[in-house]
Amino acid sequence: MEHAESLPPSDHDTVRAVQWQGDHLRLLDQRRLPFDEAWVDCRDANAVAEAISDLVVRGAPAIGIAAAWGVVLAAQSGDDLDAALARLRAARPTAVNLMWALDRMRGCIDAGADAAALAREAQAIQDEDLAANRAMGAMGAALIQPGSGVLTHCNTGSLATAGFGTALGVIRAGYASASIARVFAGETRPWLQGARLTMWELQRDGIPATLIADSAASHLMKAGEVQWVIVGADRIAANGDTANKIGTYQLAIAAKHHGVKFMVVAPSTTVDMATPSGDDIHIELRDPLELLSHAGQRTVAENALAWNPVFDVTPHDLIDVLVTERGVITSPDATALRAMFGASGSH
Ligand code: MRU
Repeated sequence: MEHAESLPPSDHDTVRAVQWQGDHLRLLDQRRLPFDEAWVDCRDANAVAEAISDLVVRGAPAIGIAAAWGVVLAAQSGDDLDAALARLRAARPTAVNLMWALDRMRGCIDAGADAAALAREAQAIQDEDLAANRAMGAMGAALIQPGSGVLTHCNTGSLATAGFGTALGVIRAGYASASIARVFAGETRPWLQGARLTMWELQRDGIPATLIADSAASHLMKAGEVQWVIVGADRIAANGDTANKIGTYQLAIAAKHHGVKFMVVAPSTTVDMATPSGDDIHIELRDPLELLSHAGQRTVAENALAWNPVFDVTPHDLIDVLVTERGVITSPDATALRAMFGASGSH
């Protein structure tokens, strides 16, 4: 079978973290990066669901793709497909790409698809994501003035997608075309997707980047170092409100204050027209221990409390541009999203 990962990687894009092996799914273990490049082999849908919950694989498009392959594994071994779909769907709540991919696989099952047909569908989901990212990269980079500095948050690159990335795809394309001269990445406390994953991915792909503490972002903007904040999304509501990694909202507020432009980059599979506004998005709360410890070592006094929401919602009026593979929306709102995605969107 042809794999997305067997396509020739373009410049500055070498990582493929989700790899179908014919009878199992191989995932680059993102909990262990940057120092260990270890792989986890998932041989059934439960193992895929666990890998998604435990952040072996993370990033909205990547968890949708992995879940689609989880359905294929269930079909190959004759497992109860309803149970597998339910288990995968419950793995994480916020990124709608997960539900979108499972709904698409469900549609194929209902149409009588066998394991081989389901594998073709999962591969199509993966290939379409890579193509969407390349298209968004070109469109987003074209909006950026030559010589600009950009700040990104979390990891939205090849690790988080089928390849190339969403926000990081724009940065890849912008760096290749010299519209982007400086890249800053916020460390993304508490799980450190920016520090551990984005810095590793950019370094590996030959794109110089500078790490900042999340709390240095306003100071960086005030210093005039960045002209754009570029982020991905986990779910975009029908009015343009956007759920993304915790800390995104405060970046949008700071960007508005400093006259820095704010760009959201996400495939149409992240747009959820069935969710009217950001208030209706389920924000995942994770184990407070992720905040109370670092690398397995407790860093906060015993018995201290911690609150660990891992996403927040940026209101649409703080977003200057939304880039999807269907096109660019300036000042996204309910009217503009309905015009591009219809009343029910792709879900
Ligand atoms: O908790 P994570 O690491 O899965 O969160 C990922 C993000 O918030 C990303 O910014 C988002 O999924 C976009 S990935 C292309």
